[in-house]
Amino acid sequence: MRIGDYWLCRKRRPLALNSWEMTTVDIEIVSVQDLTFEERDFIGDWIGRVFGGIDSKYEWAHGEWALLIRRNGGIVSYVEVVQRRIEVDGQSVDVGGIANVMTLEDWKRRGFASAAMRKCMGFICNKLSADFGLLVCEAELIPFYERLGWHVVSGPLVADQSQGKVVLPHVTMVFACKDGEWPVGTIDLCGLPW
Ligand SMILES: CC(C)(COP(=O)(O)OP(=O)(O)OC[C@H]1O[C@@H](n2cnc3c(N)ncnc32)[C@H](O)[C@@H]1OP(=O)(O)O)[C@@H](O)C(=O)NCCC(=O)NCCS
Repeated sequence: MRIGDYWLCRKRRPLALNSWEMTTVDIEIVSVQDLTFEERDFIGDWIGRVFGGIDSKYEWAHGEWALLIRRNGGIVSYVEVVQRRIEVDGQSVDVGGIANVMTLEDWKRRGFASAAMRKCMGFICNKLSADFGLLVCEAELIPFYERLGWHVVSGPLVADQSQGKVVLPHVTMVFACKDGEWPVGTIDLCGLPW
């Protein structure tokens, strides 16, 4: 499924501070199962390189959908979406989870991840009919996601691992698709984290 094109307007930098770079970005949303073997290998290696450090002590869920931005025939920016019914303070909440947000080094700071995130947010609300989007991240990325309309919620954040439920140290951020407040209390991802 190909969903639309995005206009990106971004200040050109660092040399030409007053000029703007305008470009369209094609963002594809596909079922992860529809990726080719080569694409899955490429993405798997990339995830390993980017998130293989501290996060390797946890087992992570795989997303069901992939958002792709391609340049020169290759994937340069990537986001995964997970659909999950979780529990917050014992109440069921349908969320679209964002995972593995990444842009290749040479393609960073062109607004690609931001454009992909906006597309994901529309997909989560309109196609998945979720109540909220939910992601976990390191504290340094809070401003990046806040600029896109996400906000930090308090936990604790709990997810399944092979040894049972564990409390994760990550920051939890959400955005609302509908009216309604995020419930206060323990966030149980009811499965592997993403
Ligand atoms: C975070 C990431 C996906 C951004 O991709 P991108 O295509 O460059 O994103 P955009 O161009 O839309 O936005 C760039 C903004 O990201 C933010 N950002 C990127 N990396 C950051 C970091 N390590 N710490 C804090 N902010 C960061 C900055 O605010 C930056 O804005 P600036 O250029 O004005 O400083 C990319 O840097 C990446 O792949 N990082 C490694 C993987 C990762 O940490 N993913 C997030 C998992 S929660």
